Amino acid sequence: MKKILAMALALCMVFTLCAVASADDVKTYKVGVSIYQFTDNFMTLYRNEIENYFKSLETDTVKYEITMADGKNDMAEQTNQVQNFITQGMDVIILNLVQTSSADAVIDMVVDAGIPLVLINREPLAYDADGNTIDEAYEGILNNPTVCYVGADARQSGTFQGQMVLALDNKGDLNGDGKVSYIMIEGDPENIDAQYRTEFSVKALTDAGVEVEELFDQVGNWDQTKGQELCASALTQFGDKVEVVFCNNDAMALGAATAITAAGRTVGEDIYLYGVDALEEAVQLIKEGEMSGTVLNDAVGQSHAAVDVAVQLLNGEEIQNYYWVDYVMVDKAYAEANY
Ligand code: BGC
Repeated sequence: MKKILAMALALCMVFTLCAVASADDVKTYKVGVSIYQFTDNFMTLYRNEIENYFKSLETDTVKYEITMADGKNDMAEQTNQVQNFITQGMDVIILNLVQTSSADAVIDMVVDAGIPLVLINREPLAYDADGNTIDEAYEGILNNPTVCYVGADARQSGTFQGQMVLALDNKGDLNGDGKVSYIMIEGDPENIDAQYRTEFSVKALTDAGVEVEELFDQVGNWDQTKGQELCASALTQFGDKVEVVFCNNDAMALGAATAITAAGRTVGEDIYLYGVDALEEAVQLIKEGEMSGTVLNDAVGQSHAAVDVAVQLLNGEEIQNYYWVDYVMVDKAYAEANY
């Protein structure tokens, strides 16, 4: 009996020791994430997936403590958040800039504090000597081995929008007057995604020799309500002349879809409507014929790429400065087959 008791006691001690040892072995990394604006539909999917994916990578010995901050579309507020992240001793920072023009200042702050940085969704731009933006990698990123950008090449999304118009039997020329008359509803013009989507959607048409006429081009700031207002006013102003509505994202396209219905127009019959992102609601409208198409902006792929590189940085591994995730064209056939 004594022997059994002694053995039990010894076992208990071993278990206790193990428990204490494993508690000591758990490494908790502090991750600071700041998103330009929580109310953005697309960035909501993106930030939720950042959290889910970090959680899925946790093990018995590695944990991630994530602080998610809302930049409230205010660069001063976001700069404060980054400053707080530095004070709190974050191990890595993931940042969706409010203003890419502030990239240099923020990168310097974070690099000087010795914290690795993953920029997402809003690509900082390179400038030429005259201050014009150019299609080149950004020096603030290239010069820093612990800074990178994870995103998608917005030229591709614009091109896909244009190609979906080209794939129509009438190539978007509903009234047969020999040209495609379109309205453009743009995201925040400081954002390269808005600039490239605006340019490349139309370029796909003109490159294919299709004549175009721009009736209206206004900024809806990525916002659904604004998209609805702008589309409604364009339809009032130009009526049946409007053949194609290009929206730089799905939130604005969802608003435009409401305006189109309210104006008594019918997508696929007397007007076409395109967005970008492939939000669930937009894909549903495509299946129902109330939107003509969208482009998948892969929030899952991008958030996973951002988290994977953040983990590499935490492990002290070497990283690339740029990571790109492809867009995917989502027309009705694709939506029906894949969603
Ligand atoms: C998305 C938009 C979003 C914007 C935020 C874009 O890539 O398509 O829906 O509002 O990013 O920066």
